[in-house]
Amino acid sequence: MQRTLILLKPDCVQRRLMGRIITRFEDKGLSFVAMKLMQVTPDLAKEHYAEHVKKGWYPTLESFITGGPIVAAVLEGLEAITVVREMLGATNGLSAAPGTIRGDYSSSRQMNLVHGSDGPEAAKREIALYFKPEELIDHDPTIAAWLRAVDE
Ligand code: TYD
Ligand code: MG
Repeated sequence: MQRTLILLKPDCVQRRLMGRIITRFEDKGLSFVAMKLMQVTPDLAKEHYAEHVKKGWYPTLESFITGGPIVAAVLEGLEAITVVREMLGATNGLSAAPGTIRGDYSSSRQMNLVHGSDGPEAAKREIALYFKPEELIDHDPTIAAWLRAVDE
């Protein structure tokens, strides 16, 4: 089992797409183990996007991600990190494949609706940035027996 951080970014919240996006993750068989509505501060944005802070386009990214409430959540499932990234599609909504979240709902490079951790190290770091350990709720979904075989 793997855990990954997702953010429903301000464009997702403002465009009233939260429900549809959450449904896609639930339909796939992923479990929510943490979730909250919050406001990203400039300091948190700089920590989250540490690898991008020096880039020319970072200031507009910070304005965007701090420009309205977001929903932070932790998803759990087999290969959750890769599965979520595949569901998101390419960074730029204009080139993201139809059928992916960004491909279906975004026509922007920046306003691409949902963040997903890009690897195990990032997932660990990002989950700790947004959640205290006690905010991660361990549970066994009763539907699990119908989502995958016992040896998967
Ligand atoms: P990146 O880590 O390259 O994409 P991803 O979210 O798919 O891992 O970039 C982080 C975010 O920065 C991206 O989701 C949208 C934004 N961004 C811009 O605003 N301008 C840009 O030129 C790029 C490449 C990304
Ligand atoms: Mg990235």
